[in-house]
Amino acid sequence: MSFQEKLEKNIWGLMIMIAIVVSIGGIVEIVPLYYLDNTIEKLSQEEDSIRPYTALEQEGRDIYVREGCYTCHSQMIRPFRDEKERYGHYSLAAESKFDHPFQWGSKRTGPDLARVGGKYSTEWQVKHLVNPRSLVPESVMPGYPFLLEQKVDDTLTERKLRALAKVGVPYTEEDFSTASSSVQGKSEMEALVAYLQVLGTMVNFQEGKDYRE
Ligand code: HEC
Repeated sequence: MSFQEKLEKNIWGLMIMIAIVVSIGGIVEIVPLYYLDNTIEKLSQEEDSIRPYTALEQEGRDIYVREGCYTCHSQMIRPFRDEKERYGHYSLAAESKFDHPFQWGSKRTGPDLARVGGKYSTEWQVKHLVNPRSLVPESVMPGYPFLLEQKVDDTLTERKLRALAKVGVPYTEEDFSTASSSVQGKSEMEALVAYLQVLGTMVNFQEGKDYRE
């Protein structure tokens, strides 16, 4: 009888082995969390312009989540050459420190959007969201023309920012007091595109520097 056969017929032996295997798996997942601070890159002052989203961008982000854009788009560029050549500098943990929840993902029916900010004009983004096939004939992305008609719901904007502040996003009293008025009357399209246009633009990357060191 092999070791495995013996083990499978011995309930106590099997339980002990299961406990050992599960705890190894647990340790591998849990221990790195104690070193989490080290995984957030330190950026110098001229590199770091990471700021919380404006109220309008935050509303746009909520529309992005509501519409399930993340089901086709990731927002995380991996540190591989092909990814860097296609999308730009790989994503830093520091770049999503104000994202709750983050939108990293790994499902890429469409391209990664981590650095799509500034890649196209705002007119392009609106036209593409209304009907992707008007610009990319072979696209399978759905159109979102209704975002042009729907207005951002400003009744909860201030409370959203306050909730984010509770989990550490450094919004100020001024941000809270101007939150609702700054999104009032804006279309959902304006909010979503404002969000897209800021994605991946907050770090001023230095040529040749390895941020993982
Ligand atoms: C069914 C999958 C699917 C969904 C859902 C989807 N997309 Fe896309 N998206 C694609 C595909 C495929 C492309 C590539 C073809 C194209 O540009 O239309 C794309 C392209 C894009 C691009 C251009 C990226 C680039 O670098 O060229 C942007 C921006 C974008 N999508 C935003 C969004 C937003 C915002 C939403 C949610 C409102 C969304 N997408 C929902 C599949 C999807």
